[in-house]
Amino acid sequence: MSQITVRGGKPLNGRIELKGAKNLVTKAMVAALLGETPSVLKDVPFISDVDIVSRLLQLHGVAITHSEDGVMSLDPSDVASARMVDIDAHAGSSRIPILFCGPLLHRLGEAFIPGLGGCHIGDRPIDYHFEVLRKFGAVIEELPNGTRLSAPKGLKGAKISLPYPSVGATEQVLLTATRAEGLTELSGAAIEPEIMDLISILQKMGAIISVDTDRVIRIEGVKELHGYTHRALFDRNEAASWACAALATQGDIFVGGARQQEMTAFLNVFRKVGGAFDIQDDGIRFFHPGGELNPVVLETDVHPGFMTDWQQPLVVALTQANGLSIIHETVYENRFGFTDALVQMGAQIQIYRECLGGNPCRFGQRNFYHSAVINGPAKLTGADIRVPDLRGGFSHMVAALAAEGVSNVTNVQLISRGYEHFLDKLAALGADFEYSE
Ligand code: EPZ
Repeated sequence: MSQITVRGGKPLNGRIELKGAKNLVTKAMVAALLGETPSVLKDVPFISDVDIVSRLLQLHGVAITHSEDGVMSLDPSDVASARMVDIDAHAGSSRIPILFCGPLLHRLGEAFIPGLGGCHIGDRPIDYHFEVLRKFGAVIEELPNGTRLSAPKGLKGAKISLPYPSVGATEQVLLTATRAEGLTELSGAAIEPEIMDLISILQKMGAIISVDTDRVIRIEGVKELHGYTHRALFDRNEAASWACAALATQGDIFVGGARQQEMTAFLNVFRKVGGAFDIQDDGIRFFHPGGELNPVVLETDVHPGFMTDWQQPLVVALTQANGLSIIHETVYENRFGFTDALVQMGAQIQIYRECLGGNPCRFGQRNFYHSAVINGPAKLTGADIRVPDLRGGFSHMVAALAAEGVSNVTNVQLISRGYEHFLDKLAALGADFEYSE
C-alpha cells in the first residue's frame, strides 16, 4: 500500500497546470462509442479513472492511444461484445461503466455492466439509471456479478422526469437518447458545466439537443453519429482543491487552466472566507493574503450551487478560520467521514443529523450525519491517517501539509483516481514529503 510521509507546516507556493475534468473526460470517452468514426479528445489527464474506462472501451474493441501531451484518440470502428469474465475483472473499480448501457445497446443490442465502484460517500444507488433505461425500452436483468441489458424492440425516445437532478442519470439520458428513435424530454435534469460540455461533444457528433429553462433538456434522436474533436473542460474540482490547499497552508498557488465562469460559486465563498484570487487569461492565482480567515455558513448543492466536491478541502481551510463555520451537505448523505482524521489531528469538528444552517434537505429525517460545525482556529498536528476516498483523501493531505510535525498518510493511491501527477505537483509546490510504495 502506498504511503506518504509529510513534514507539514510549510506554505505551498508555485504553479500547477490542470487538464480536463475527470467528471467530463470519462463520459466523453464513453460518448466516442456512439460514433461510427474516430474521435479525438484533448487535455485527457493521466489518472486511474481514465485508465479504467480505457480498458473497458478496449475490451469492447475501441482502439485507443493517449499521448504524453494528453491527446487521446478513440477509434470505435470495430466495436464488439466483450467477454463477461473480462468485464467482470473491472467490478468495483469505478461508477462510469453504468454509462456504457445506452451506447452499447445502440451499437451491439446488448450490454453487460460489472458491479460498480467509486467513492464510499453514501449508498450511491443506481435506481434512476435503471428507471431511465427502462423508459427507453431496455430490458434489465440483474445477475450475481453484474447487470445484463438488452433492447429487443430497439430504444425509443421517452418523457422522463428525474426526482433529483442527478449528474449520472442526466448523462445516462443524453448518451441513450441521442440515437434513440424519436423525441426525448428530460425534466429535472442536472446542468453542471461538465454536462454542458458533454452536450457540446454530442452536438459535434451530430446530435440535436436543446437545453431549455427550468432544467428541461430535449433530444431529437438521430440514426447515426460520427466522431468528434474536442478539448475537455478544465477540472474545476481540482482547481478548488488546490485553492483550498493554498489557503490552509498560507500559501500562494497559480492554477493554470482554471477559469472563472465555472467556479463563480466557489470564488464567492473563497473570498468570504478571506482568501484572495487573481483571475488571469491562463488561470487563477489563489493565495492567503495574510490576516485572519473568516467562518462561513453554506450548503452544498447541485449546479449552480456550491459543489459537494469542494466542501472537503474547504473544511480543512475552515479549521483555521476564526469562529464557527457550518456546512450542510445536501448532495450525499454520508460525506463527512473524512473529518474523523482531521479531529485526530486537532481540528474541532462536530457532525450532526439535523439540517443545520440552511434549508431542510431530503436527508433531514433520515439519521444521516450530513451537517458539520467547525470551530476554528485549531492547531493541527501530524498524525497517522488513511485516505478514505478521493476528495477526503486530498483533504487529508492538505491537513497533513498544514499541520505541524510529521504525518504518515496511507492508501494515497486513491488520490491518483482524480488528481493527475499528484506527487509531482506537491513537489513543484515545495511540499516536504517522501513517498514509498
Ligand atoms: C457525479 O457523481 C460525480 N462523479 C461526483 O464526483 C459528484 O460529486 C456528483 O456527480 C455530484 O456533482 C462523476 O462524475 C464520476 P449524482 P454521480 O448522480 O453522477 C443520488 C468525485 O469525487 N442518486 O448526481 O454518481 C445519489 O445517491 C465524485 O469526483 C440516486 O438516488 O452523482 C446522490 O445522493 C464523487 N439514484 C445524488 O443522487 C441514482 O440512480 C446525486 O448523485 C443516482 C443518484
